[in-house]
Amino acid sequence: MYSDKVMDHFRNPRNTGEIPDADGVGTVGNPTCGDLMTIYIKVKENRIEDIKFKTFGCGAAIATSSMTTELAKGKTLEEAMNITRASVAESLGGLPKVKMHCSNLAADALHAAIEDYKEKNKKRGSKNEI
Ligand code: FES
Repeated sequence: MYSDKVMDHFRNPRNTGEIPDADGVGTVGNPTCGDLMTIYIKVKENRIEDIKFKTFGCGAAIATSSMTTELAKGKTLEEAMNITRASVAESLGGLPKVKMHCSNLAADALHAAIEDYKEKNKKRGSKNEI
């Protein structure tokens, strides 16, 4: 039912945890199942220098979050905004149809974390502004 990649990321999720002094934090809930996802990012010179996630979600949510953090690490904020639910699922070798909604959490939380960073940056008027 699940690809080897999904099982690998589920069993050995990458980049789990919190970044206490994160530059951006995004939390989203999945209306379909009520699960929750938070993504933390550290940004340096417009790139995602570090990224971690925490989830109260199913196995597919864990695997998609893990893959999302791998895809986003080292990317510019613009590149990271282009990571979509579909590209995450594709990178995992596909997801069962009933589990496609689980990939929404990670991509949406990533985008929310980037928006949060931009908002905070605007307020600070930092030179990191994009
Ligand atoms: Fe809730 Fe997968 S069932 S995120």
